[in-house]
Amino acid sequence: MKQIRLDKFLAENGAGTRSQVKKYIRQKQVQVNGEIITSPEYKLSPFQDQVLLRGTPLIPLPEFEYYLFHKPAGCVSAVSDSRHKTVMDYFRGYRSDLFPVGRLDKDTEGLLLITNDGALAHFLLAPGKHVDKTYYARISGKATQEDIQLLSQGVDIGEKRLTLPARLEILSVSQEENQWFSEIKLTIREGKFHQVKRMMHVLGKEVLYLKRLSMGSLQLDPSLKPGAFRALTEEEIASLKEL
Ligand code: URA
Repeated sequence: MKQIRLDKFLAENGAGTRSQVKKYIRQKQVQVNGEIITSPEYKLSPFQDQVLLRGTPLIPLPEFEYYLFHKPAGCVSAVSDSRHKTVMDYFRGYRSDLFPVGRLDKDTEGLLLITNDGALAHFLLAPGKHVDKTYYARISGKATQEDIQLLSQGVDIGEKRLTLPARLEILSVSQEENQWFSEIKLTIREGKFHQVKRMMHVLGKEVLYLKRLSMGSLQLDPSLKPGAFRALTEEEIASLKEL
């Protein structure tokens, strides 16, 4: 069984930030197996040793947690940022080792997986894995059959290679005050910076609204409002790991 530092154990199990819990340890508020421990580096086995904070047992959380987050516009996909609100601001009070799997632009909404499972994140983001990501977008201009064709062949967005074949579905094309707009669904298998916006730009269109609907087998839950999240079900976790 993996051993971890006492301060890490306390912080990961909701006792406070790393610096707060170090203070509690030095103030003799923490016992391990009935003994007061004053060293934050003390090593323990999370599921074997009994830890008390001010006399109350700390029950270890499961090793990994997975949340389906409906990212709202206006926050950045980072763990911390000195200027902007981050997606992790929505998880205040949750374990401190959670992070977003990949990035959505500040103005993009939709599905973001939040977890502390580094191996799964690495797998989902690995360029060679080509995990499908489907977006809904409202764009300027008329989406056409030719766009479907071009995107299915790959387009030049200024990277070393053309984009991998992508699937474009045209949901609607409409005209408002002499301007054309389209609603589309686009499935891509990569995750380059601003990828959807750059692909649309090549077609002479501008993304006006962008929302991620799915990543691999994971779908955005329509009952989650922007800013809301829920834990993944066992089935959702299993099918993501099966990918
Ligand atoms: N493509 C973009 O252009 N932006 C995103 O946020 C995600 C994909």
